[in-house]
Amino acid sequence: MRHLEGAYALIFKSRHYPNELIACKRGSPLLLGVKELNDDVCNGSAFHDAKFLSKNGNPKELFLSSDANAIIEHTKKVLVIEDGEVVHLKEGGVSILKFNNDKGRNGDSLSARPASVQRALSILEMEVEQINKGKYKHYMQKEIHEQPESLTTTMRGRLLRGGSCKAKTVLLGGLKDHLKTIRRSRRIVFIGCGTSYNAALAARPILEELSGVPVTMEIASDLLDRQGPIYREDTAVFVSQSGETADTLLALEYTLENGALCVGITNTVGSVIARNTHCGVHINAGCEIGVASTKAYTSQIVVMAMLALAIGGDTISKQERREAIIDGLFDLPNKIREVLKLDQEMKDLAKLLIAEQSLLVFGRGYNYATALEGALKVKEVALMHSEGILAGEMKHGPLALVDENLPIVVIATHDACFSKQQSVIQQLHARKGRLIVMCSKGDAASVCPGGGCRVIEVPQVEDCLQPVVNIVPFQLLAYHLTVLRGYNVDQPRNLAKSVTTQ
Ligand code: G6P
Repeated sequence: MRHLEGAYALIFKSRHYPNELIACKRGSPLLLGVKELNDDVCNGSAFHDAKFLSKNGNPKELFLSSDANAIIEHTKKVLVIEDGEVVHLKEGGVSILKFNNDKGRNGDSLSARPASVQRALSILEMEVEQINKGKYKHYMQKEIHEQPESLTTTMRGRLLRGGSCKAKTVLLGGLKDHLKTIRRSRRIVFIGCGTSYNAALAARPILEELSGVPVTMEIASDLLDRQGPIYREDTAVFVSQSGETADTLLALEYTLENGALCVGITNTVGSVIARNTHCGVHINAGCEIGVASTKAYTSQIVVMAMLALAIGGDTISKQERREAIIDGLFDLPNKIREVLKLDQEMKDLAKLLIAEQSLLVFGRGYNYATALEGALKVKEVALMHSEGILAGEMKHGPLALVDENLPIVVIATHDACFSKQQSVIQQLHARKGRLIVMCSKGDAASVCPGGGCRVIEVPQVEDCLQPVVNIVPFQLLAYHLTVLRGYNVDQPRNLAKSVTTQ
């Protein structure tokens, strides 16, 4: 370990030590699951050495994994192994040793003498049903269709309306002591990768509108590459489904060093981002197994919309707007149920697109993020080139690609950018573009006057929540395209659910 650099979680076995196993980690996650057969006494017990296991004499099984999902079917009792620790399993006994981070006499970053560690077992708060596919063929499919429920869980206990409290408000317990600091910050910086970055981008406009604080966006790796400026007066919001993504973690370390307030938005209780940020919100979307993130994306947007409501919570002038958004949030699961009915329509569209090489997606305003995320879904799982394009940039390059062959999706649901999107559609139409238009229910005639384009009609919701609805048809399209093209939908080629190395 003294010689290794970077992030790792390693397990060693040797034929010279037949009944022993060594595991160690730095940066990457590692859990030790403990299953004591016939046991119900070890909840919260101190777990420190081989004696513990033999204390009650029960037979036991031990599991090492980088992810709770792999352990949950065997046991809920786990020890979260921390950086610099070494786990030694020998003849059924366990000891955990820790190297201090102090510089040793010879300049090594880990001291030579490890100390024995004592720690209580944690109990995983998840059920094995969460990792079953149920009636679905694939996890991605299950997770797409689960969104009405996952969104309800995300909002549970956090939206207050009616009863003794007449006003409609948002309560985010993990942030309440830090809201004043966030409101006073010089800017809010969102930091994330992949889908999590897109979710933050979708929430950016409502954050700007309700908080009045400038909001900037950082892709974690790019912030690190540039060593971009972060100040003590900044609030940095780290968005990560897994809470373990290496680039986001390194950006967190960098931001902590620069003294900003760090807020975590993750789906994984106990993850490094959840533990190492000053405060935060769990999205509670339930465990997501498909590599392509779906339900975590929609829950992340909803959490960030609630964050915007909480930060802007004391401005009278925006009270009406805030209450409309809260009503919209309450109704969102129903709207998602409605948009999920497009499943067959998206399958039919997938059949049409099955042999295409490429797909462009144009969006703007609230739905620029939907264009990026929709294209990312298609790219990730269906292995088809797909690009999300800011519609305002159409004339600055992308227009050159338009012809009668290339399929283009234009997102034109009803919001302040609607008339601009109508004009984009006309210009693409004039160049004989092969258009698929996503619009609000009832708008088909006004987005596609002479027919000639395929229309996807979605239920209309509050403008800032529209990205949550609009992404669903793209998720369904990507899913069906992948299955029809015969690719692995839950574990796409070359990708990992949690990218724990740089
Ligand atoms: C990987 C996954 C993506 C995910 C990204 C960020 O690339 O394949 O689905 O969006 O990591 O992961 P995070 O856990 O930080 O949200």
